[in-house]
Amino acid sequence: MSDIKTTHKADILVVDDTTANLQLLVNMLTQKGYKVRPAINGKLALSSAQTAPPDLILLDIIMPHMDGYQVCEHLKADERTRDIPIIFISAINEVLDKVKAFTLGGVDYITKPFQFEEVWVRVETHLTLRNLQISFKEKNELLEKTLQQLQDAQKHLIQSEKMAALGNLVAGVAHEINTPVGISVTAASTLAEDTKEFSRIYKSNQMKRTDLETFLDTAIESSSMILANLRRAADLIVSFKQVAVDQSSDFQRRFKVKEYLEEVILSLTGQLKKNKHTVTIEGDEQLTLDSYPGALSQIITNLVMNSLTHAYEKENSGHIKIEFHRLGDMVIFQYTDDGKGIASENMSKIFEPFFTTNRFQGSTGLGLYIIYNLVTQQLRGTVECESEVGVGTKFVIQLPI
Ligand SMILES: Nc1ncnc2c1ncn2[C@@H]1O[C@H](COP(=O)(O)OP(=O)(O)OP(=O)(O)O)[C@@H](O)[C@H]1O
Ligand SMILES: [Mg+2]
Repeated sequence: MSDIKTTHKADILVVDDTTANLQLLVNMLTQKGYKVRPAINGKLALSSAQTAPPDLILLDIIMPHMDGYQVCEHLKADERTRDIPIIFISAINEVLDKVKAFTLGGVDYITKPFQFEEVWVRVETHLTLRNLQISFKEKNELLEKTLQQLQDAQKHLIQSEKMAALGNLVAGVAHEINTPVGISVTAASTLAEDTKEFSRIYKSNQMKRTDLETFLDTAIESSSMILANLRRAADLIVSFKQVAVDQSSDFQRRFKVKEYLEEVILSLTGQLKKNKHTVTIEGDEQLTLDSYPGALSQIITNLVMNSLTHAYEKENSGHIKIEFHRLGDMVIFQYTDDGKGIASENMSKIFEPFFTTNRFQGSTGLGLYIIYNLVTQQLRGTVECESEVGVGTKFVIQLPI
């Protein structure tokens, strides 16, 4: 007995039509510390159980009007009493239908005459089981609730992360465009002032040759500065437009991957042949993809432009490899260059908008950000980068077929 946890003050309903039996059970169970309610017939048992569901029911089978099986059926049909464990009691001379007892939902049965110790052990066992069941159910509900809260929190996080990213992008756009526009405004106002002054000197008929020469210098310098900076601003705007990819302008279709990659590389021949770079494309000629070819072209173009801009010194010619293969319902692209690689402290930043190590040579730091957006948003894939300084850089892109 010592290994069974005693459930103090458990509430037990005892149902028996034989007063002597009923009395015996009630007395003995009360002595063991339980709260016991007697019921002399099925009908009373049902109303007692429905008014205040007990923790366990000891139920005699053979009773007039409504037998134990019927009481059991009623209890199991009622939401309030369905889960109460029922132990059937039957006399040895009655034919006990064990199968029926269990089928109806009884958890155990005891035959009369019984030893009280036996009744006690069974009662304790089923009370313990019932308690475990209740605590599992509660834990489970708690877990489900926690999971739900976690999922809500995650949705919220993703949403606020998107908003933060958008905010950063807008701030970045303003900041990036501010510089060339600011320079242009300064140069234009210098030009305007000098022109006004020049016109005044001209009208007063006091113009000297040096005035004319000075003015021409200023005019040429200012106008070329304005032009260069407005071009820079215009280029930035072109890049920003690519960030907000207009998905409707690129239609989805089925295309042969290898053939398409070859076309894209062909369109880059001009840039590639300057330094005699070579590009190889490896993969199944027959493999087709039902996707957005425009997005894929943009991705490959940005990767190649990056290799040309960042991976190789001017005089070096490199080798770029594009390999693709099918894995389940995904196509895996591996883009590799054998250039100078990316410093490990920059690896976590390369996909961020405006991260560039080449700002002063005119890069904006949007190329990989655009790739990241295209891959994850439009193409529903993933992109990862591995790189080793002095060895090269590799991008692995997985896209659904
Ligand atoms: N193949 C590569 N080899 C070495 N470094 C690279 C390579 N690709 C990208 N990088 C590094 O990652 C940075 C970010 O690349 P990203 O394409 O986003 O911007 P960017 O090329 O500098 O500017 P943009 O593409 O807007 O002209 C680069 O500035 C460079 O430092
Ligand atoms: Mg780039």
